[in-house]
Amino acid sequence: MSPFRPACRFDELQPDVPLRCEVDGRAYAVVLTESQTFAIYDECSHAQVPLSEGEVTDCAIECWLHGSAFDLRTGNPRSLPAIAPVPVFDTRIVGEGSDAVVEIDLPTPTNATPTNATPTNLSNEGAS
Ligand code: FES
Repeated sequence: MSPFRPACRFDELQPDVPLRCEVDGRAYAVVLTESQTFAIYDECSHAQVPLSEGEVTDCAIECWLHGSAFDLRTGNPRSLPAIAPVPVFDTRIVGEGSDAVVEIDLPTPTNATPTNATPTNLSNEGAS
C-alpha cells in the first residue's frame, strides 16, 4: 500500500510556481506544470538551499543560488555545478474542486536507486 500523504490544496498551486510543503517534518517543493504535478525534496543537492525559491522552466526547477536545474521527472541535474540528483516522488490529486488535495507518495522517491546517477548534458551555464 502506498503511503500517500496530503501536501497541499490543489488550488494553492499556480502553474510553474513551486510551493514549499512540509510533510512529516520534511520539506518538498510541489510544482504544477502544464501536464501534471510533481514533488521534489526542497533542497538542492549542491548545497542546502531550498529549491522552492527557484524558478520552473521546461519541467525543471532551477536552484536560485548557482543555477543548476533539476528535471522534475527524474530529479537529475541538467546543468552544473550540481552533479547529484534530488529525490522526486509520485503525486496524485484526490478530491474535486475546492476540496482537491495534492498527495505525495512517501517515503520512497521514484529515483531512489538511479540507474544513471551521472547527469548528462551538463554545461557550466549559470554556474558561479
Ligand atoms: S546551491 Fe544549488 S546549484 Fe549550488
